Amino acid sequence: MDTKRISATLEEALSTQMNVELFQSHTYLSYGIWATDKGYDGIGNFLMRHSLEERNHAIKFMQYVLNRGGKPTVSALKGAEGDPQNLTDCFNRVFKHEVENTEKIYNLVNMAFEEKDWATWNFLQWFVKEQIEEETLAMDLIDKLKIAGGDRATDESLFNLDKDLGKAEDDAELARNANSENP
Ligand SMILES: [Fe+2]
Ligand SMILES: [Fe+2]
Repeated sequence: MDTKRISATLEEALSTQMNVELFQSHTYLSYGIWATDKGYDGIGNFLMRHSLEERNHAIKFMQYVLNRGGKPTVSALKGAEGDPQNLTDCFNRVFKHEVENTEKIYNLVNMAFEEKDWATWNFLQWFVKEQIEEETLAMDLIDKLKIAGGDRATDESLFNLDKDLGKAEDDAELARNANSENP
């Protein structure tokens, strides 16, 4: 008896997304190594923690496809793109990666909608929410660096930024958690 509860098209698309998340993990790991090597240990730590988070996203896609009776495939990972030029470039790239990933998630949501696969549609809503958080986090990085003085930041303000990010929350503050006492 065929117990598969997902179409071949969605099975493949979600499997591809698993690999996209693995690539994101790879990319942030390479940025983390770059930052640590430059002496920004806090930022490096932040990026490496983020790399782990992306791997967890990949595992969520893997588990979902398996749960629906499908089988995801791990494809060969392309190597991470080269090192960022500087911190501004690094954070801009993080933001760009997140926006591109959001577009990929939206595309999957569309596919699930068209197939009326509500289980997959519902599964993907977690990622829709998560991407709001990821984009906010990336925007915060860009803002923090701007406030510190951007590429012309003094050693002291970069030192403080690095220290802050080393122990920063991994989650951004979002509107959904806000209330009148804690806007
Ligand atoms: Fe992700
Ligand atoms: Fe992400």
